[in-house]
Amino acid sequence: MRLSVAYVLGLIGFAVSQSVDSYVSSESPIAKAGLLANIGPSGSKANGAKAGLVIASPSTSNPNYLYTWTRDSSLVFKTLIDQFTSGADTSLRGLIDDFFSAESQLQQTSNPSGTVSTGGLGEPKFNIDGTAFTGPWGRPQRDGPALRATALISYANWLQANGNSTFVSSEMWPIIKLDLDYVAANWNQATFDLWEEIQSSSFFTTAVQHRALREGATLAAALGQTASSYWNSNNYITANTGGGRSRIDANTVLASIHTFDPAAGCDAVTFQPCSDKALASLKVYVDSFRSVYSLNGGVAVNAAVTTGRYPEDVYMGGNPWYLTTFAVSEQLYDALIVWKKQGSIEVTSTSLPFFNQFSSGITAGTYSSSSSTFSTLIGAIQTFADGFVALNAKYTPSNGGLAEQYDKSSGSPVSAVDLTWSYASALTAFSARSGDSSPSWGASTAKVPATCSNGGTVAVTFTENATTQLGENIYLTGSVAALQNWSPDTALLLSSADYPNWSITVNLPASTAVQYKFIRKFNGQVTWESDPNRQLTTPATGTLTENDTWR
Ligand code: NOJ
Ligand code: NOJ
Repeated sequence: MRLSVAYVLGLIGFAVSQSVDSYVSSESPIAKAGLLANIGPSGSKANGAKAGLVIASPSTSNPNYLYTWTRDSSLVFKTLIDQFTSGADTSLRGLIDDFFSAESQLQQTSNPSGTVSTGGLGEPKFNIDGTAFTGPWGRPQRDGPALRATALISYANWLQANGNSTFVSSEMWPIIKLDLDYVAANWNQATFDLWEEIQSSSFFTTAVQHRALREGATLAAALGQTASSYWNSNNYITANTGGGRSRIDANTVLASIHTFDPAAGCDAVTFQPCSDKALASLKVYVDSFRSVYSLNGGVAVNAAVTTGRYPEDVYMGGNPWYLTTFAVSEQLYDALIVWKKQGSIEVTSTSLPFFNQFSSGITAGTYSSSSSTFSTLIGAIQTFADGFVALNAKYTPSNGGLAEQYDKSSGSPVSAVDLTWSYASALTAFSARSGDSSPSWGASTAKVPATCSNGGTVAVTFTENATTQLGENIYLTGSVAALQNWSPDTALLLSSADYPNWSITVNLPASTAVQYKFIRKFNGQVTWESDPNRQLTTPATGTLTENDTWR
């Protein structure tokens, strides 16, 4: 008997989908329970955590994640709030109220980033009893307030619609507004990225800030941002403006799923999961892991592979992450939801390389649901998406526990155990797979300008060649607020990703003469570069690059 290639692929797809079905049904309750176990005060693994605070993981050494991060907590609670407001789990209300009050108190907790009115909202993590964490850390991280606002707004919208608008306007709005005001005031300042390593502009941070500001209706007109300035001519989104790596990063996949709006079609400006730019970027991102993990060896070039934060990652050995591999499947499931709903798939020259993986020789055009190309693509992309879940399933230990990473060669769990965010990422991917999406946040009515107007600033990239000893770091300060007004204490930390070149990108006022210097900090001691001050004048538009050597 002769079997056609299409028939065999169909059988494989069927087998993958069966095993993914069974993983989804066994893992769902484990992920939900694992997530709830990590929330204070009564989560079984969250001993000592204040009511409503999420511990990142119960792991207390190598790494110690027994802290509460605003980013992780907000993404986790967005998952729970969606389950509550959709009616999938109506028992969660008390926990959500606890989250709201715990986060309102964190906002008021003075910390190394400042007080509530001087930048403290950008503090990335706190102790689990709600006190400030005062050790050194990559701060500020400006995605936190935006993600928290988005989570709280989704709960507030439900309360509004369900007869509790007094609570929303008198209790919740002031809290949400603090976060939105922080975002509006600081969105164009450099930030540590979501992986807490690079201080620069970062696509994920900008995208979630844009969403939060859109949702905060009274602030909607304050500013518009765009994803387009991050577009790279090699067909992907530049994830960060600094860091000196390839800048291919899961940050873009996470931006796409966390700003998904089922009512916005395949809009590329708001980077919807099925937009040509998001799909093109997804392919470049996934492909970047094909040769870096031995687990991915021998896999067909158009089949799913395990993915991590970014290909150059070395943290804990540099391994695949559950939450990024789930995020890839979720972006694809989100795209499938929209294509099926609109009854067509548009292929553009930008997304052609992505679609070519599933239908070789396909050309740009719109394929309606009555065409065979449409059914081929839907089937193949569903199988591709399931492939990512199947890989996570394969590397999930038999108790269903999800750590942060799994070893790139052996597949055994690595780094923090029971990572709450891993569990949340499983639940949201499973829910997208079953065709569910969170409510619209208004992306389709967003007035996003075609180019980035950032209030008269230009991005200046500073690179300083400096040899340092272990533990010594290079910072930048200078004569304008964006350079911390000559303050050595708050000087900006440069990234050493390209050591001995240290670099940072900062938005400075346009057409302005600026003086600056680099400083070294070692064991609390500050050493300034020799005089005179360095000088530059920013252009009216565009960008500027400064290359200096320590003196
Ligand atoms: C700890 C941070 O949590 C992680 O994001 C980072 O990659 C490592 N430090 C290494 O810098
Ligand atoms: C390291 C991750 O890079 C960061 O995104 C996360 O917030 C912390 N671990 C805590 O899970």
